[in-house]
Amino acid sequence: MPVLGAALAELGQQRVFDGLTIGFRLHLEPKTAVLVKGLLAGGARVVAMGNEGTTQFGTAEALAEWGCEVLDRPDDGKGAVLAHLSRIAEAGPNLVLDNGAELIEACVSAGRSPKGATEETTSGAFRLRAGLAGVVGFPVIVINDSPLKAIVENKHGVGESVVDAIVRATNMSLHKKRVVVFGYGWCGRGIALYARRRGADVTAVEPDPVKALEAAMDGFDVAGPDGAVRTADVGITATGRGRVVGYELIETLPDGALLANAGHTEAEIDVIRLEREAPGELVAPSLYAHELPGGRTVFLLAKGRIVNLAAAGGTGNPIEAMDLGLTLQARSLAALAASGGDFRPGPQPVPQKINDQTATAMLESMGQTPA
Ligand SMILES: NC(=O)c1ccc[n+]([C@@H]2O[C@H](COP(=O)([O-])OP(=O)(O)OC[C@H]3O[C@@H](n4cnc5c(N)ncnc54)[C@H](O)[C@@H]3O)[C@@H](O)[C@H]2O)c1
Repeated sequence: MPVLGAALAELGQQRVFDGLTIGFRLHLEPKTAVLVKGLLAGGARVVAMGNEGTTQFGTAEALAEWGCEVLDRPDDGKGAVLAHLSRIAEAGPNLVLDNGAELIEACVSAGRSPKGATEETTSGAFRLRAGLAGVVGFPVIVINDSPLKAIVENKHGVGESVVDAIVRATNMSLHKKRVVVFGYGWCGRGIALYARRRGADVTAVEPDPVKALEAAMDGFDVAGPDGAVRTADVGITATGRGRVVGYELIETLPDGALLANAGHTEAEIDVIRLEREAPGELVAPSLYAHELPGGRTVFLLAKGRIVNLAAAGGTGNPIEAMDLGLTLQARSLAALAASGGDFRPGPQPVPQKINDQTATAMLESMGQTPA
């Protein structure tokens, strides 16, 4: 991760994180561990938790050895997650790095006001602008809104790693398979692109007519959910919304179809009702077969959790994509730490200077030069 490495070395020399407590909530896996290690080396105290079902406990152990306070335990349920969020908020962090805006919400509920926070995801950005609108009294830099993250991570990183995770966990070829992608936003565009590169025929289900037109111009079929689902060999959700594939839709899938979710939470597929009507049987690592009352079988990967991390063998976004995304995180946290009132409260974009600096560094790491 040369771009992140160089940024962390520079920020470490400036001692911007020295003596600060950083509340950290992001998937705990080897790439995010590089960022935590750099923050610790820069003099910060880091109290960390991952998102549900994605923590790699080998990484968590290594982080603990390096001095990070890791709260996750392998048998954590929903209650433990809430307790960890409160514990980080109670630690009174000076800075927060969040992935889903739940830690930011926990800080607000606990009456804590960090100097600033960063939010990684689309889903967290929605919450900051909807349920949490007007209640967050400190600046939150939304990393997800950076055009760099959208292109490098959401489109190419997610596209490549989601398709790769599905192929690896199922051992299935996508040639001439019908892949239905729900959502033609940044992640959906990438998933459609990389599925096609693997030989699939792709249908996009997208309610926004402008994006649906874009999908058609990109050469994909476009259809409503009911029609698309009937032809699907593979259905992949990437919307950031709840119940996009409800149980009624699942019932209309062809026999043997596979469902997977690339979005932030498993709520995109109605897994709860599916489990109730047709309990899953584990047939291969992280692959569940659900025999529907009508006799058809539908397969679900990783219980509908974020598939590129939660499916067996899933390693998340490619290292290069995270090199860029985590550099945006490190530089944004540093800008917040160093700021003297330059940021307003609430969600806001990554400063353009950070985008330009990071894009140039990534181009250089690829042996390319901007004009
Ligand atoms: N798997 C990963 O590693 C990873 C990485 C980044 C983001 N994400 C997550 O992926 C999700 C999508 O992110 P994005 O950046 O593509 O967001 P986006 O806002 O760019 O795209 C979402 C798209 O879904 C569409 N949509 C909304 N409701 C729909 C419905 N009912 N059916 C079909 N489409 C619908 C929207 O119109 C929009 O075009 C979010 O949950 C985000 O947090 C996952």
